[in-house]
Amino acid sequence: MINRLIAHLLPLFPKKFIWLFSKKYIAGETIADAVRVVKDLNRQSVMSTIDILGESVNSREEVVLYQTKYLHAIKELGNSNLPVTFSVKPTMFGLLWDFDFCYESIRKIMVNASGKNIFIRIDMESSECTDLEFRLYEKLYKEFPAHVGIVLQAYLHRTLNDLEYLKRLSQDSHPINIRLCKGIYIESQKIAFKGRREIRDNFVKCTEVMLKYGFYPALATHDKKLIGSLTELITRFGLSQEQYEFQMLLGVTPLLRQTLVEQGHRMRVYVPYGEQWFDYSIRRLQENPRMVWDIIKSFFIRD
Ligand code: FDA
Repeated sequence: MINRLIAHLLPLFPKKFIWLFSKKYIAGETIADAVRVVKDLNRQSVMSTIDILGESVNSREEVVLYQTKYLHAIKELGNSNLPVTFSVKPTMFGLLWDFDFCYESIRKIMVNASGKNIFIRIDMESSECTDLEFRLYEKLYKEFPAHVGIVLQAYLHRTLNDLEYLKRLSQDSHPINIRLCKGIYIESQKIAFKGRREIRDNFVKCTEVMLKYGFYPALATHDKKLIGSLTELITRFGLSQEQYEFQMLLGVTPLLRQTLVEQGHRMRVYVPYGEQWFDYSIRRLQENPRMVWDIIKSFFIRD
């Protein structure tokens, strides 16, 4: 209740005040800011995935604008030798109002990225997008199997079934590359697990299936207990360092991140940047007010 109230009052605060809280989680407004953060992470033996901040758009002109930003960023980082991939939200490319246009727009980004041997991850958004995002991924994977990945959300009841579909799609030469996360959107209990334990259990089950099927798992979580179960699985399956990675969000649980790196696990951090950081931060907090508490807590406690 208090979290929700704070989230709704946030737009009334000055931008500079909100930046005090946001700067930990967002690289800045420009590609130069993102490159600075990527280099800093690289010095800590941490890889990055860059996300250009934006909202679901309503016009073709806005899609072209975001496409240009991605193409520019790929050009900047393409020859840098930094361990970097990109993450893309399909609603920023018109997924919900013109699938073919969205596909063509992201395909152009894929052509450029794959030409520079850069990997693109298709983020998973709210449940109205799930089927469309799988359809988009399938088309891109058939053309760019080595350079495109997808995200699954452990809170959805359907995710174990989706792994069966991905098994049928997977090519032996380029196994499917999946980021598994808990899921950040507010979904109905008809389609999503709600309890922390149920979500954790499903996360572990899905990881086990991914490993059995020989997929490449990118395990995106800051949940210490869950990470404990995942490292046990990694040991049980006898995986080498190159066969999986952990992922975390910029600014979240940096000490836990460092511990995992020191234990020899590969780690990639999600690095968001863009002029839209203010609207984006407010919108995310209003959609998921529970995050307000995580942010307040992390301001005082480092874990
Ligand atoms: P949990 O929410 O239990 O958090 C564990 C602890 O981490 C908290 O107690 C807190 O200390 C800390 N924490 C977590 N989030 C925090 C925050 N925002 N600020 C401060 N502290 C925080 N989701 C989705 O639906 N689609 C997607 O494509 C992606 N992509 C994605 C990429 C990457 C690299 C990550 C790490 C996460 C995502 N997510 C996502 C978000 C994901 O679904 C989930 O909401 C968050 O990772 C939080 O869940 P945890 O597993 O960390 O557990």
